Amino acid sequence: MFKKLTLSAIAALALSMSGAFAAGGGEQHIEDYQFSFEGPFGTFDQAQLQRGLKVYTEVCASCHGLKYVPIRTLADEGGPHYSEDQVRAYAKNFEVYDADLEDFREAKPVDHFPENTAVGAPDLSMMAKARAGFHGPYGTGISQLINGMGGAEYIASLLTGYTGKEKEEAGVTLYENTAFPGGWISMAPPLSDGDVDFDDGHSNDLHHESMDIAAFLMWAAEPKMMARQYAGFLGVFILVILSVLLYLTNKRIWAPIKYKKS
Ligand code: HEC
Repeated sequence: MFKKLTLSAIAALALSMSGAFAAGGGEQHIEDYQFSFEGPFGTFDQAQLQRGLKVYTEVCASCHGLKYVPIRTLADEGGPHYSEDQVRAYAKNFEVYDADLEDFREAKPVDHFPENTAVGAPDLSMMAKARAGFHGPYGTGISQLINGMGGAEYIASLLTGYTGKEKEEAGVTLYENTAFPGGWISMAPPLSDGDVDFDDGHSNDLHHESMDIAAFLMWAAEPKMMARQYAGFLGVFILVILSVLLYLTNKRIWAPIKYKKS
């Protein structure tokens, strides 16, 4: 009887961890998008990062800054991996304030993306790590062990989560959004189908544009994610080998005593 109970309890826990409760947090809905960088061997998809950068440049940059991201990192391997020339040309999209000149000048690869405080929108440099998509089951956060923090999932869900309803509150227009905590956000739906034409001809419906910008923002927040995942995997791998060796050594040391003929 007791055994049966614990078994069903374990089954229920496993079920809830496997995603049934992954979104958690009441009415908030986070879609569990599949990204290339998930899991211990995941890597960023270079073409996706390039598309995401285009979405950022053409749509999000008018309100959101990326002030902690150096423009030169767009050339990094494992990232968007543009050529030095392409990065130099891209930097010219932006103007930065130069304290020496006491004036604005064209940005160079050594500069960071500019900050943008025009409409009070938060900086997006760390956004993918500042938000969690998964909180369950029952707000314990255990599902994050399996699903990850879900920052990229949160951003993609936010961009696709508008219901079309609006309301006015204290002179501010709020838009209903199924991913935003509380359900009402002051950012008007920034993206829609076909807003950005991708150079690689990739599908540009809202769903794909959202995934691409979410992946790009994940890279911006954690450009060295691959190295971290690899180090973690290597650590666990070495510990497993060590455990096996310890077990065998222990067996061998005690063997003469355990099997002693008296
Ligand atoms: C017209 C200006 C504008 C544009 C364009 C815009 N945003 Fe926003 N965004 C805002 C404002 C304002 C907020 C703060 C909303 C709030 O807290 O109610 C915000 C908030 C956010 C947040 C944070 C939500 C949270 O959990 O606090 C994210 C993520 C975000 N925007 C992503 C984007 C992305 C990605 C794009 C480009 C596809 C974009 N935004 C384009 C104005 C804009």
